[in-house]
Amino acid sequence: MPAKRPYPAPAVLLASLLTCSLSAAADTAQIARGRYLAVIAGCNDCHTAGYLMAPDSIPESDWLKGNPLGWSGPWGTTYPSNLRLVLPQLSEGQWLAVARSANFRPPMPNQTLRHMTDEDLLAIYHLVKYLGPAGEPAPPALPPGQTPQGPAVIFPPPAPTSER
Ligand code: HEC
Repeated sequence: MPAKRPYPAPAVLLASLLTCSLSAAADTAQIARGRYLAVIAGCNDCHTAGYLMAPDSIPESDWLKGNPLGWSGPWGTTYPSNLRLVLPQLSEGQWLAVARSANFRPPMPNQTLRHMTDEDLLAIYHLVKYLGPAGEPAPPALPPGQTPQGPAVIFPPPAPTSER
């Protein structure tokens, strides 16, 4: 009878090495997908300060840190949240529940979150976790009728004047 090896057989070692590198590859792919979605699904447009005006000049490390540019309308004035501070406080399951029942004030495109697949929602979640917590919370929303102190996009836009 051969003596029992004190170490795992080479095949076992190889299998565990392969599993490790496969799951590492999946994580990289998931973060890459999140990066793609942050750009394509418009999250950066609102949640990253300055992104709409000069997307290429904002490093990824500054993505999704919220935006001091307010959006004013009948709902008051809202500020795109700092997702780098909000998402890491949620478990994967909590994030999916938040996204499925998204009902935030305008102009947050709630339907984008509600229609996204779990896979895509988790890709965004893991991108944000990978980037890590950073920045300050977005300014608190203002009630209707209160004039914002900082810059804001006004809805509905003023009606065009008749004189030209
Ligand atoms: C047109 C601008 C706009 C776009 C595009 C946008 N958001 Fe938002 N988002 C907002 C605003 C404004 C708020 C704050 C709403 C409020 O105060 O009720 C918000 C709030 C949120 C919240 C709530 C966070 C909290 O404070 O609890 C989440 C989550 C969120 N957005 C995720 C996303 C993701 C993910 C994307 C991309 C798929 C995205 N948003 C695209 C404007 C936008």
